[in-house]
Amino acid sequence: MKATANAGSNIAFVKYWGVGKGRSNRRVPLNPSVSMTLDVARTTTTVAFLPGLKEDVCTINNGPAPPDALERVRRVLDRVRRIAGLKAFARTVSVNHFPTSAGIASSASGFAALALAAARAAGLTGNLKGLVPLTILGSGSACRSLYGGYVLWSPPAGGQASSRVRQLEDEDHWQLVDLVAILSREQKTVPSEQGHLLARTSPLLEGRLASLGRILTKVKKAVRERNLQALGEWLEADALCMHAVMMTSQPALLYWEPATLAVIKAVRDLRERRGLPCYFTIDAGPNVHVITLPEQANAVARALKKVAGVQEVLRCPTGRGAYLQEEALF
Ligand code: PMV
Repeated sequence: MKATANAGSNIAFVKYWGVGKGRSNRRVPLNPSVSMTLDVARTTTTVAFLPGLKEDVCTINNGPAPPDALERVRRVLDRVRRIAGLKAFARTVSVNHFPTSAGIASSASGFAALALAAARAAGLTGNLKGLVPLTILGSGSACRSLYGGYVLWSPPAGGQASSRVRQLEDEDHWQLVDLVAILSREQKTVPSEQGHLLARTSPLLEGRLASLGRILTKVKKAVRERNLQALGEWLEADALCMHAVMMTSQPALLYWEPATLAVIKAVRDLRERRGLPCYFTIDAGPNVHVITLPEQANAVARALKKVAGVQEVLRCPTGRGAYLQEEALF
């Protein structure tokens, strides 16, 4: 009744922002998203259902899980118990192989690893597709981390109860690098789970949703054709569009710091003056993800480190999906 899984974080090229209610009142994403799964930024999680436990216990990076994380972990475990017909509580130990306090989201890798480990520890044997609803209980973007390479997550089509996730291309199709310019180690002021609920208050949301079909087609084509210039143009456009929605929500969400803008300008400068192919995208926080090619990653990272306010640059190549491992954490 014990299993250990490993999963990587992911960076979205077309962002998921906003949730609605689907059939059966489950929360579903308002729009499709496309991401690249990351190596280096990975999580290992061991889960064991133990009849002697009085409640679910969870440690993250050798400390007790914070209350909000524990609540989300319990949601996933409760669902697994229901499906497997189990009563026992679980011990969960999770370790992030990247600085959690570095301000890059560990929830995607964390909940992908948790869903796989918990399902197998409970004796469930289905494929990755069956884990999608479990991951979403913890964090929406986690469902994309189940698969490696380039992944599409779509809202339920008419009549379907749950959303769909599929791999567009695997990690061997195209190796890119995500250089994460870390500007802040602070926790997010407004967690994305709350932010998603505010999306509908923005007058710009409709415009974003209306234009997404075109962007999605362009991004999928650019990934298929390994065309970084085309991909970069659209991933930057979508990141700015999502932040425009955030900034015009009520209350307004402003995740950027002055250094965020400084990195954006540095990226443009590297492209225009030095001919280095690199493009920025930003999640629900101040840090900037810079997508580039492996051959240019050292030069781009060196330049990013010189931008005032950049504390560290984390180099994450395209990674594989979630997998089980023999070695357990306890
Ligand atoms: O999965 P969540 O609830 O942490 O939301 C992720 C939201 C963004 O990172 C901003 C966009 C995305 O698609 O990853």
